[in-house]
Amino acid sequence: MSKLIFDTHAHYDDKAFDEDREELLERLPAGGIGRVVNVGSTVASCEACLKLAEKYDHVYAAVGVHPSETEELDEERFAKLRQQCLHPKCVAVGEIGLDYYWPEPGADVQKKWFERQLELAREVKKPVIIHSREACKDTLDILRAHAAEEIGGVIHCYSYSAETARDYLKLGFFFGIGGVLTFKNSKKLKETVEMLPMESMILETDCPYLAPVPHRGKRNSSLTLPYVVEAMAQIKGISSEEVRRITWENACRLYRMDA
Ligand code: NI
Repeated sequence: MSKLIFDTHAHYDDKAFDEDREELLERLPAGGIGRVVNVGSTVASCEACLKLAEKYDHVYAAVGVHPSETEELDEERFAKLRQQCLHPKCVAVGEIGLDYYWPEPGADVQKKWFERQLELAREVKKPVIIHSREACKDTLDILRAHAAEEIGGVIHCYSYSAETARDYLKLGFFFGIGGVLTFKNSKKLKETVEMLPMESMILETDCPYLAPVPHRGKRNSSLTLPYVVEAMAQIKGISSEEVRRITWENACRLYRMDA
């Protein structure tokens, strides 16, 4: 049983950490952060994720190409991605999905590589980390068409309604909850957290982005997660220790690790 926090989604390969990456990663366990999954978004960042995971016991990697970056994919790069997925410290395929907030690349390109990467996850027997922005229906349709309940995964930075959350819940997916929960204008997410069973939620930063209040707008790191823990404990009416313990166990179940 862990009293530590599991950050299920971080981007420590981002240039925002160039000045103090090593120092920061080294002091995470002493700061109450027991494990981190560093998530890839481009072919190059996947390589960096694996390097960080090789260097630190408490850091793991996810390998995948973000929907907004899928234009860089071709068969050769996809083959490379498959190889990276087999790394022993790669615990998931991600982040993959659909992002219609940005007009490029077009939906057809995004869908094609989302589906290919879903099938890759099935093949390598690892869960998926889904990025879905302004693409709720298409994401659900594709997940259902690919029997994603057999693959398993998380909807990272969940941003849709509490009602829609029930559909993802039916697929057995987890929900990644981060700094947005502490924002004043996050009514929709608070309602979702209120509705969801504790067993379906995991904690994430998406750092360097989405720092919780009172650090909103600044560079984020896993060390701010206690603010999200507090917010979740308040909404669910349980102690922050319970939030830490349950979300830790959930994350280990998602990423198929020993608790
Ligand atoms: Ni991310």
